[in-house]
Amino acid sequence: MTAHAASPTPDGTSTPARRDVLTLAAALSAAASGCTAESRSRPPAAAGPPAFRFRGPRQAGVTTPQQSAALVTAYDLAPAVRGAGGVRALREVFGRWTRALAETLDGELPPPSPVRTKELEGVAGKSRLTATVGIGPRLPQLLCVAAPRGLRELPPFPDDRLDPAYSGGDLVLQLCADDPRVTRAAASALTRLAGDTLRPRWRQTGFVPPTPAGQAPSDRLGFKYGTENPTPEECERWVWSNDATFLVVRRIHVDMTEFARLGTRRQEEVVGRVRASGAPLGHGHDDVIPPRSHVRAASPPLDAGARMLRRSYRYDAGPDDRGLLFLAFIRDPALFARVQRRTAATDELSRFTEHRGSAVAYVLPGALPGEDLGARLLA
Ligand code: HEM
Repeated sequence: MTAHAASPTPDGTSTPARRDVLTLAAALSAAASGCTAESRSRPPAAAGPPAFRFRGPRQAGVTTPQQSAALVTAYDLAPAVRGAGGVRALREVFGRWTRALAETLDGELPPPSPVRTKELEGVAGKSRLTATVGIGPRLPQLLCVAAPRGLRELPPFPDDRLDPAYSGGDLVLQLCADDPRVTRAAASALTRLAGDTLRPRWRQTGFVPPTPAGQAPSDRLGFKYGTENPTPEECERWVWSNDATFLVVRRIHVDMTEFARLGTRRQEEVVGRVRASGAPLGHGHDDVIPPRSHVRAASPPLDAGARMLRRSYRYDAGPDDRGLLFLAFIRDPALFARVQRRTAATDELSRFTEHRGSAVAYVLPGALPGEDLGARLLA
């Protein structure tokens, strides 16, 4: 990608030119094909699984089937971006992001050239890119706009070891795709489109190991993950609220060496699941769901049936720092706080984990045709 000069606006923010919007498309094509600029006119690869659309009443990347790579980036509003001028600046950023993503993923607006459009269709189909945008608890205050109900900082939890370098953010962007080069390319294109309005605060990549279609991926400990996620009907009740939701991010370091020492049977007791199949313990003649197991402590009946949709990834930050990039969507972050407090206090799994990063964001309703992301928040 080439860098482009940004033109300043009266409130001190900058407006990347239209060609910058188009470079999201170019960056994604290049990333997915592994091509250099010279070879970008190569015909598109055969279409893969259908791409996810960007526009719609709800943002993609929540109930969307999980892709294999994630890149979460948190941004802060630049210090000058405050009040009514800040609203204007952020509206411009959301406008640019909407246009770029709608062009890239939905083929919207006149494309720069038919060749590039074809490439993009191939890219979107191949990599199933989704971009999911949420705002952090500080943002409404800084811009003097009404805060969405329920958006506030998570409370501190007793065993938290949070590193500010992986926590917080006025805006959280979750990018998922089946190719990490595509999430990286999209992140750098969108960051550049944010001009001087948003400053990257932290970022974390995540991945799930290759998993046969229709099977649950395995988590950091080798157990099937997400098998107890809510059904689409349960998501309507517990995840969505007026086409919005909340995202809770926790960067959870896992002490895998200690966990491995337990041996399979004991590990299964700690998690409350059969390791190979993901089946619940407690269904065999000799089994009882261990009272201090993770799934017992996280069990929805303890929360009057309330559910969260977990869409987590593994992260790998070198031999000393590996774990779970826990991503959960939930209509009320208070549920996360309840479950986290309970699991931290009672489940044996928490002996092997350390929460090192944390963020919460209100995931905006989707951008309807003709509308920009965040239009209702920043009206
Ligand atoms: C490294 C950390 C963690 C690991 C390895 C882990 C692993 C698992 C596994 C293997 C399951 C059973 C299969 C499934 O995913 O449905 C599960 C279930 C679950 N976990 Fe975790 N988990 C972790 C952290 C958390 C945290 C921090 C929370 C929330 C505070 C949480 C909430 C849940 C819930 C709500 C369920 C479903 C329980 C049910 O519906 O029966 N997990 N987890």
